[in-house]
Amino acid sequence: MNWDGLMDKKDISSEEELFLFPKWTNGVPLILALSTVIGLCTVVFIFWYWFSPRNFNIGFAPEQPIEYSHELHAGQLGIDCRYCHVNVEKGPAATIPSTETCMNCHSVVKTDSKEILKIRESFSEGHKIEWEQIHRLPGYSYFDHSQHVNSGVSCVSCHGRVDLMERVYQVEPLSMGWCLDCHRNPAKNIRPKKYVTDLGWKVENPEELGNELIKKYHINPREDCSTCHR
Ligand code: HEC
Ligand code: HEC
Ligand code: HEC
Ligand code: HEC
Ligand code: HEC
Repeated sequence: MNWDGLMDKKDISSEEELFLFPKWTNGVPLILALSTVIGLCTVVFIFWYWFSPRNFNIGFAPEQPIEYSHELHAGQLGIDCRYCHVNVEKGPAATIPSTETCMNCHSVVKTDSKEILKIRESFSEGHKIEWEQIHRLPGYSYFDHSQHVNSGVSCVSCHGRVDLMERVYQVEPLSMGWCLDCHRNPAKNIRPKKYVTDLGWKVENPEELGNELIKKYHINPREDCSTCHR
């Protein structure tokens, strides 16, 4: 027997057979690692995207520079929303009142209060009060208050009972689905125009009255993309 020859043969073949998988599989661990990273990123992105504050903004109630209460002013004192939010029937933004509006009363009312002192300082020094904005749509969507308020949609449909709030908080999601839900079937949210700022106003059968008013006011909310994205 030629042992040497046999050994030689075996050595050569064993060198090939030792690799149980073809050469290209050397890349598998790298591919696995990469796809794990990409997979994780996707999961993080989906969570970040869907559960970011914008979609979970219900209840958002930032602290304000002055402890101004709607419950007191709009509720107990019964000041109409439009006294302060002067643009709400006229254009896209409702507008936040200037210091001058507060001074109409607080130049004489409660002048000894620490909170009112902040208003008086803002007035005498001519700097704006930096109110924190609560409701905010992304820049690529279009919204107009006057188009709603003048069609008999009350503040309460979108902002809740602000007249009962010590501090304003967001009540509705303000998502696209939410806008469209009402555009498809607005009846129960349409009331006589003179009650749009009377948040506690009630009627026995809102849907029936709403349907009458839809005819009377010729209401037909649009659903095509360019209505809200322009
Ligand atoms: C005396 C003035 C005054 C009156 C009356 C008033 N508001 Fe306001 N409103 C303010 C001020 C000041 C702010 C900003 C500070 C805050 O958020 O509390 C504000 C904020 C708001 C916000 C939150 C705005 C944002 O940042 O998103 C809503 C909604 C609102 N008001 C609705 C109403 C409604 C509805 C009424 C009527 C029931 C009303 N307001 C009456 C002064 C007023
Ligand atoms: C139409 C009159 C009127 C207007 C306008 C008005 N207020 Fe008042 N405000 C009052 C009255 C009345 C009280 C209650 C005073 C009391 O408790 O005796 C009050 C109370 C307050 C208090 C509580 C003060 C304390 O220490 O008890 C704050 C804060 C306040 N107002 C802020 C504002 C701000 C900010 C604005 C402007 C956005 C404003 N008010 C506009 C009439 C008004
Ligand atoms: C159909 C829903 C809807 C109705 C009705 C509505 N709002 Fe709004 N409101 C919104 C949305 C959405 C925003 C956020 C707008 C943005 O980011 O451009 C907003 C923002 C605001 C703001 C802060 C920003 C601004 O526009 O100055 C105030 C104040 C406000 N609303 C007051 C009112 C009052 C007062 C009424 C009733 C007279 C009212 N809104 C009725 C949906 C509504
Ligand atoms: C509670 C009901 C309701 C909600 C919520 C609502 N809308 Fe409307 N929207 C209406 C009604 C009613 C009209 C008036 C339609 C008419 O006059 O024919 C209207 C009209 C409009 C118009 C003017 C174009 C048209 O259809 O006449 C725009 C733009 C608009 N809405 C955007 C929005 C956006 C953006 C949102 C969400 C942030 C929203 N709306 C939420 C009821 C609603
Ligand atoms: C009645 C108003 C309205 C109409 C009509 C509308 N959108 Fe939107 N859309 C919105 C608002 C408001 C947002 C922002 C929602 C948010 O803050 O997440 C939005 C968000 C979006 C987004 C961002 C992703 C998301 O869901 O947040 C896309 C994409 C979009 N709209 C596409 C469309 C297309 C396509 C159409 C037509 C089939 C359409 N929209 C019709 C109001 C509307």
